[in-house]
Amino acid sequence: MTLIDTLNRPLRDLRISVTDRCNFRCVYCMPKEIFGPDYQFLKRDQILTFEEITRLARIFASHGVRKIRLTGGEPLVRRDLHLLISMLSSIPDLDLTLTTNGALLAKQARALKEAGLKRVTVSLDSLDNQVFKAMNDVDFAVENVLAGMDAAAEAGLTPVKVNMVVKRGLNESSILPMARYFREKGYILRFIEYMDVGHSNGWRMNDVVPAAEIIKMINAEMPVEPLDANYQGEVAERWRYKDGSGEVGVIASVTQAFCGTCNRARLSAEGKLYTCLFAIKGHDFRDMLRGGATDEELSREIARVWGKRADRYSELRSENTTSLPKVEMSHIGG
Ligand code: GTP
Ligand code: 5AD
Ligand code: SF4
Ligand code: SF4
Repeated sequence: MTLIDTLNRPLRDLRISVTDRCNFRCVYCMPKEIFGPDYQFLKRDQILTFEEITRLARIFASHGVRKIRLTGGEPLVRRDLHLLISMLSSIPDLDLTLTTNGALLAKQARALKEAGLKRVTVSLDSLDNQVFKAMNDVDFAVENVLAGMDAAAEAGLTPVKVNMVVKRGLNESSILPMARYFREKGYILRFIEYMDVGHSNGWRMNDVVPAAEIIKMINAEMPVEPLDANYQGEVAERWRYKDGSGEVGVIASVTQAFCGTCNRARLSAEGKLYTCLFAIKGHDFRDMLRGGATDEELSREIARVWGKRADRYSELRSENTTSLPKVEMSHIGG
């Protein structure tokens, strides 16, 4: 049965963070000054088990969820993730996908595919090693991420999509090289406007390169025209190369907010449900799971939380809202 929130938006997409840890320290997400050696990550018994995640996922599916995306931190650092994938892949009619930084993808692509994963989205912010290393801050080389994407494509985890967060002054110069390279490769590149998620990235509006500016830049060299969305509520605005050589997308969450069609819920690694990327608080499900709640009770709680949802942060964003406390991106995975 479909659940509808107070703004008439159905629940369709569940993003599950399987860990708050990551092997990168991207400066806009997990800056080293905060996520250093003393940072307290969640302990093993604080994060949901694969059984607990799968149980909740089934109930979400019974409420109309049709896409599950695993995220992190970095999901591939969670041990034996392929076992979770095979458990989730027994849920019928599900688009089962994953967002990764690609570091461990070359090693795991085949096992993930065999377990039932359908496709992957890989984050990459530049093709220039100097820029990329300055952004991931762990000296990780571009070539290894590209090898991960290629392994995913070979394993059939397609279409491979690539997410590039664009931050003014940091990786703007990588926009055109990225577009050229991935057009050639046939992977779908999407440019993401840098957002004020969490409270550790010191975001300013001046850091945002508007999607319209990005499209203008690309169009000047490689003419593009708009495409229709693949499905209602798609976050990326799609553009097709006029010469037929594929498509690119832009995710304009700052300059053209898309809260009106937002059908996404996010489950953190510790079992809190967030109804917005910018939420301050999540609704805990771990205590219910571990306290003996029945499926029926969990189901009713999900319905209750979605039923009173009114979030539309990106539409309300202003100087006043950006300084509010929020959950860190690494807790709910973007
Ligand atoms: P497809 O299933 O391939 O269509 O993927 P998707 O469009 O859901 O993309 P993905 O999950 O890769 O999201 C890309 C990025 O868009 C995320 O990493 C976020 O930065 C941003 N994004 C996704 N969902 C939301 C949202 O609900 N609100 C905001 N503000 N940004 C979002
Ligand atoms: N703004 C936009 N996107 C972000 N991501 C992480 N932090 C931000 C931010 N502040 C992206 C990552 C990845 C996805 C999970 O979210 O680069 O593509
Ligand atoms: Fe890790 Fe992704 Fe955050 Fe970078 S953006 S630190 S890869 S979770
Ligand atoms: Fe959805 Fe919140 Fe993002 Fe708006 S800001 S699109 S409500 S997650």
